[in-house]
Amino acid sequence: MDPLTYGRALTGIALAVHITLAVPGIGLPLFIAIAHFVGLRRRDPHWMALADQWTRLFAILFPIGAVTGTLLPVLLVVLWPVFMQIVGEVGVLPMFVEGFAFFIEAIFLGLYLYGREKLHPWVHWATSLPLVLGSAASAFLITTVNAWMQTPTGFHLEDGKVSAADPMAAMFNPSTWVETGHVLVTTYLTVAFFIAGWLAWQSLRHPNRVPRPVLRKGVALALVVGFISAAGAAGTGHLSAQSLAVRQPLKLAAIEALFDTEGNAPLTIGGWPDPETGRVIGGIEIPSLLSIMVYGPGGADGVIKGLRDFPRELWPPLIVHLTFDLMVGIGILLLVIPLLYWAGNWLTRRRQTAQAPRTATSAATSPDANLGVASMSSSDHLPPMLEKGWFQWLLAASGPLAFVAMQSGWLTTELGRQPWMLYEKLTVAAAFTTADYVPALFWAMMVGYAIIVGVAVLLLRRVLARHDLAAELERAGRTLVRVVEATTGSGARQPGQPAVPTQP
Ligand code: HEM
Repeated sequence: MDPLTYGRALTGIALAVHITLAVPGIGLPLFIAIAHFVGLRRRDPHWMALADQWTRLFAILFPIGAVTGTLLPVLLVVLWPVFMQIVGEVGVLPMFVEGFAFFIEAIFLGLYLYGREKLHPWVHWATSLPLVLGSAASAFLITTVNAWMQTPTGFHLEDGKVSAADPMAAMFNPSTWVETGHVLVTTYLTVAFFIAGWLAWQSLRHPNRVPRPVLRKGVALALVVGFISAAGAAGTGHLSAQSLAVRQPLKLAAIEALFDTEGNAPLTIGGWPDPETGRVIGGIEIPSLLSIMVYGPGGADGVIKGLRDFPRELWPPLIVHLTFDLMVGIGILLLVIPLLYWAGNWLTRRRQTAQAPRTATSAATSPDANLGVASMSSSDHLPPMLEKGWFQWLLAASGPLAFVAMQSGWLTTELGRQPWMLYEKLTVAAAFTTADYVPALFWAMMVGYAIIVGVAVLLLRRVLARHDLAAELERAGRTLVRVVEATTGSGARQPGQPAVPTQP
């Protein structure tokens, strides 16, 4: 391998590791805040147990994500000094502000972790909100830098010299809103299915360590958020594709494997685009659909530029057609899973009601039966779909699949930008270092990343084995006794109020 290939491979691996570790750190605070809120409001230990376990995951992944995130700019300076010099002059503003978002997260994570026994229960819950906002702000700010690489505005570059630098124009470049929107929505989508998959996997492996109401409520929340964000992913993804048609038409042609410029352009699903023959081997073509998707329902004859309109040496690797299809395919599956869950539950209950009207009625109309709207009289029953082994396996697989979709999305965006580092301004080759130690650095960093990933896996396994959901539930029960005491003043029970929330 030549040094440039080592440099590309190292950057790709470093980003993939960072994204995998950072995504749960961005999405989990939202789930923690919701579960904690519902738990406090209903004095429901199941929701509190979920919030507690997700907090443990967050507390492990946040610092590890921060370590890999801190390594990245250093690595980029070493490997791509020409690019990073331009970033320093033009694109550094969001990175700078992101430092503040990170501090807010770090401070409030400390308060949230250690304030449990010391703060008023609602003040304690409120300390989770800056974590939600801080993590979303971090994701937004860093993604604006990537958006700037796709549509680099806010400066002139001539003979390697930057002039007329405008950091605000760079930050709010034409791709900013569409890319940050897609990234944020798909981050919550990934974490939603990570949670659903994790719960399903735990209950398949150790059914007695996952209390059934906790499983039911956790899966219900994950699938509601998962469904909303899967629909959001499709919507923002559609806008991304339309934006590509205007701003990066060559990338669009590559991800859609369109060789010839044409109206009524077909949408090709799957297949292998062969650059030599200019044909897609084995794909399924849907006539006019690509034109319709770009120009709207009345735009079937809209012209889409094909690869042959551009010089061959500027084509990105055509594997982006497959990474794109993989992302979209998984996105559609993730949209279908919640629908399958709700429809399956509904149909089974309807059948049960028809067969045994009296006994089935209570299950069918139970307020917490489907969408995770809890009641304190939670029973041990599971929604019918969660009783089915095949559905539990499907849920368990959905977590890793969501991560695959996320990585495929980044591969599509980043490989699709090749050969440019800053689109149509600076090539990857021109941005690369002249230093000759890149292969050695590659292997040293591989060892470093293996250690980081190993430590993350080890910590997660140990902590979650010691604090499984059954143990979390016991602890949550104790917390709620304190909540009752704090909110009623003296610890004296109000008439009709349970001292400890009813355990199923
Ligand atoms: C369901 C339909 C989806 C569509 C139509 C879609 C569309 C797109 C498009 C066109 C891009 C390239 C944008 C660019 O290069 O500027 C992209 C990138 C990306 N996609 Fe998707 N996507 C979908 C689903 C998903 C899912 C399910 C995930 C993850 C769970 C995901 C994660 C990403 C990521 C992380 C990127 C890179 C960042 C970006 O450029 O926005 N996408 N998507």
